[in-house]
Amino acid sequence: MTWSEMSRRQFMQSLATGGAAVIGAPHLVRAASAAGASAFGADGVRMDAMTALHPLRFAQQLTPDGITLAAAAAGTADIGGGTMAPALMLNGSVPSPLLRVRRGAPFRVTMQNDLSSEFILHWHGLAPPVEMDGHPRFAVPSGAKKEYTFTVKDRAGTYWYHSHAHMRTGEHTNKGIGGLIIVSDAEEEALRLPSGARELPIILQDKRLDANGLPYYSTQGPAHMVGFMGTEPFANGVRRAFHEVETAVYRLRLLNCSNSRVFRLALSNGAAMTLIGNDGGLLPAPVQVTTMDLAPAERADLLLDLRAAKVGDVVMLQSQAFTVPGAMGFMGGANLQGQAMDLLEFRVAKQVRDTTRIPTRLPAIAAEFALPDAAQSQHARTFRFNSRMMDHTINDKLYEMSRVDETVPFGRTELWRFVNESSFMHPVHLHATHFRVVSRTGGRGALMPWEAGRKDTVLIWPNETVEVAVRFTAERGLFLLHCHNLEHEDMGMMANILVE
Ligand code: C2O
Ligand code: CU
Ligand code: CU
Repeated sequence: MTWSEMSRRQFMQSLATGGAAVIGAPHLVRAASAAGASAFGADGVRMDAMTALHPLRFAQQLTPDGITLAAAAAGTADIGGGTMAPALMLNGSVPSPLLRVRRGAPFRVTMQNDLSSEFILHWHGLAPPVEMDGHPRFAVPSGAKKEYTFTVKDRAGTYWYHSHAHMRTGEHTNKGIGGLIIVSDAEEEALRLPSGARELPIILQDKRLDANGLPYYSTQGPAHMVGFMGTEPFANGVRRAFHEVETAVYRLRLLNCSNSRVFRLALSNGAAMTLIGNDGGLLPAPVQVTTMDLAPAERADLLLDLRAAKVGDVVMLQSQAFTVPGAMGFMGGANLQGQAMDLLEFRVAKQVRDTTRIPTRLPAIAAEFALPDAAQSQHARTFRFNSRMMDHTINDKLYEMSRVDETVPFGRTELWRFVNESSFMHPVHLHATHFRVVSRTGGRGALMPWEAGRKDTVLIWPNETVEVAVRFTAERGLFLLHCHNLEHEDMGMMANILVE
């Protein structure tokens, strides 16, 4: 089936189900999303102001070698259509600068804290020396600086950075501080994946809007338990974004930067994308996905093939509706987790010839990045994630800044068991290494195709137990294991792991 046939079929289906009422010439309207009708005027602008889409923008790109990232509290950023909204910003922009660095290169960044509270940046997925990792115990007060200096030893991949100020991570991240780090190396470059304008680094996030249409952050009400849930999709800081594309292959580097929302990614026309990478770089093998879940802090490196599309075609990157068995419902039973959302619309604007080769195999993971083998495990540990009353705990403990919760020998292969004893989802994240997801029992009862390869975050649904094979081979010191639901994290669902 070709792209257009697929779009047409989807279009007919949506008419048949009465899902989306579509007006206009068929060539202008294809693959209308389930969540909202696409109605374009001749100029390509949505006719309904309430659903107006805004052009996607991209972060400025910096080489992190001798730069300053200055955090400022008083700033405004355009959330689309010229609407200026208060934001917390690094270097005056939302999203935060995209840092591009080659493996083996120096990383030299000065962080300047001009926020009104303490602050620290963490390089999520990288494994720098312990005092460079952004552990909250190293947070600096308002007005102070922190110097980060290390060598990037990490595998090529999509990483990111954000605040790790204890009890403020949710606020800092939701209000605009968060950027991507793209590490490259010769091995990945040899694949000649789409680059330049064909590589789209995209930070996905949900936000809430007040009566004036401006984003706000609050932990009132159910956010205390579920985590902060937005109702509006943002991409690279733009509310309801679109992007004009050519009939070519695009590389989407996606980050779920939401505080607690899990996205179930899919294209509105049902087409598959090729997943080539996730948290720790390229997968062992590419996999075709028509839907994939992306939890807070997870990354997806996807190839979107638009070569069979026609000028005028429109395809929406959506988050599909889903339900979570065993999850606690709020607001009259409705749990905001799993709501459908239109995330980013691609508008095919130009016909070109593109001879990109979509890889059918990917290079083997080099020995230095090899994942531990569960069969070699020398020790097992259990981490129970619980949400009782108003507390989110790991092994019944709330976080304490310098308490050592587990001591793990450097270089030893261990099997860690994450047990979800609560009625919430927990995206569990480990600093300083990547792990292999070995098994999942209960809940979904299976490993997901996007959980292959080197992971630093894994999503645990209610009633699930997930086993991962872990080995620290980069650095020694006190590192974090925590839930990346930022409200859970801020409320103490973290543990200190001493690697020695
Ligand atoms: Cu993305 Cu400890 O964090
Ligand atoms: Cu991290
Ligand atoms: Cu959690």
